Formats: sequence, structure tokens, C-alpha cells
Amino acid sequence: MLNFKIEESKCIKCAKCFKECPTRAIKLSDKDKIPFIPADKEESCILCQHCLAVCPTAALSIDGLDPLNSVSTDKTSVESEKMENLIRCRRSCRNYLNENLDPATINKMLEMAANAPTGVNSRSTAFSVINDMETMFKFKTEAMNRLSEKIKNSQLPQQFDFFTDFSKKWEEKKIDIIFRNAPHMIIAHAPKDSPTPETDCAIALSYFEIYAQTLQIGTLWCGMAKWLICDIAPELKKVLKIDENNSVGYIMVFGRPAVKYARGVQRRAEKIDFIKM
Ligand SMILES: Cc1cc2nc3c(=O)[nH]c(=O)nc-3n(C[C@H](O)[C@H](O)[C@H](O)COP(=O)(O)O)c2cc1C
Repeated sequence: MLNFKIEESKCIKCAKCFKECPTRAIKLSDKDKIPFIPADKEESCILCQHCLAVCPTAALSIDGLDPLNSVSTDKTSVESEKMENLIRCRRSCRNYLNENLDPATINKMLEMAANAPTGVNSRSTAFSVINDMETMFKFKTEAMNRLSEKIKNSQLPQQFDFFTDFSKKWEEKKIDIIFRNAPHMIIAHAPKDSPTPETDCAIALSYFEIYAQTLQIGTLWCGMAKWLICDIAPELKKVLKIDENNSVGYIMVFGRPAVKYARGVQRRAEKIDFIKM
């Protein structure tokens, strides 16, 4: 049930919703050009809400949503130079303050991640989040114990031999090369049978990361944690409430940075081909 409703007194019959619908589910009534979704088209609707977003008079509601609760697009301008500088100055953060972020801030970052696009609007990306340092420390200790056990029992896959050194550094000196002593961690995972699971996760974490920059919160894409959790000790997925039908897209650690960069780095694309035919 799509709950597609038009407030007829507000509808100006501009047909913008009809033209915008990506699956052409919306039709206009012959009699008075009021938009509607015929019963046999309901299944093709992907609930992208473009109809709600494009309606100039807020006459259209879908999925029980009040269009007046949406952010107005008048409020979205970001100076492009500021955005450019933010992107140029984003850095992988490997040094964190030993403090928790406010849970409300983390929730807001998660909301931004949930606003990322997903293939066929599946919106099935799930997030496992550690939002307190105590849990992070307990999880990390558990993960490092598992790693050490695998090494002792010769169960470490050969391609991950280099984790032996990480384990030694942790056991002898509590040097944390894998999680970088970050206070928080987010794992984005999605059903393997959704249209684009890993890409959806990566995009969601990119939104999370860029928004984090605006709050001076540091992030790190954590491939080491992904290898440890997904390939070396996959039993850890259960602790993180990752369903076995889900694929882990990526893992990111984050928190208040203990490092301040004075400038951005200087990069350009290695190879760009402009195609003309
Ligand atoms: C998919 C991915 C996985 C990464 N995994 C790790 C990691 O496990 N540990 C780490 O210290 N850095 C990791 N990085 C960070 C990269 O090393 C970093 O992006 C690169 O050195 C450039 O630095 P910058 O992000 O500050 O521009 C990862 C980055 C990406 C994109």
C-alpha cells in the first residue's frame, strides 16, 4: 500500500510528479489531470519520493509522509569553494582523543548516511555501530584475542601473515595498528541479494565521512578491521549483529581527532580519458 494521496485543493495540475517519476507509475486522470497511481502500477513504485520532493505546492503525500516535514531546497546552498576545501582537506585520521562523541551527534551522522542513494532505492543498508569507548575496547580486545588464537593454532590464512606483527605489537605494547585506538566504529552491511549491496555501503559511508568533516570529526576507512572481521575471524560478525545473509560493504572508525592538519594534500586524477565518438 503506497498511501499515495493528493490534496486536490493544493494541486495545480503542473504534472511535475508525472514527468519526474522514474518508473512511470504515476498517471494523470483523464477528467481533471489529478495524479494517481493505478493499482497495477503500485508494484513498480520504488518509493524514491521524487514525486513528493518535486511538487511545488506540497499537495502530494506518499508512504504516509507529510511533505511539509521535508527540508526546503531553499536551504541547501553550500558555497562550492568551501565544499572544495573540505574535500581537499579531508584526511584519514589515525590519532584519536580518548573521548566519546555525543550519541546525538552520532545519530545525526547516521541520518546523513541513510540519505545516501541506493541501487533501485532498495534502502536496505544496515549499520552496526559502536558508539561508546568501553564497548569499543571490549570488542577490540575480543577481536585481538581471536587473532592471537588463530595465529597460535596456525589458522591465519597465509595472505594475512602480516597480521602476526600487528598481534605482537598489541600483546607486547598495546599498540593498535588495526583500529587505531578510535573510540567508535561503524560497519555498513547490506543483504547479498539486494541490487547493489557493497556500492550502497560505500556511498553511505562516504556521506557519513563528509558530514563528519563538517563537525571536525575524524574518520578512517578501516580495511584492516574488515579483513580481521570478515576473513580472519568471521565469528566476530555475530557479536556485531551482522546477518549471515548480509555482505559487509565497509568498516569505518571515527572520533574526535588528536591531530590537526595545517593544510590539504595535492592530488589529481592519475588517468582521465575524455571519450568522443
Ligand atoms: C578502502 C580503504 C581502506 C583503507 N584501510 C585502511 C586501514 O586499514 N588502515 C589505515 O591506516 N588506513 C586505511 N586507509 C586509508 C588510506 O591509507 C588513505 O586513504 C591514504 O593513505 C590517503 O590518505 P588520506 O585519506 O588522508 O587522503 C584505507 C582507505 C581506503 C579508501
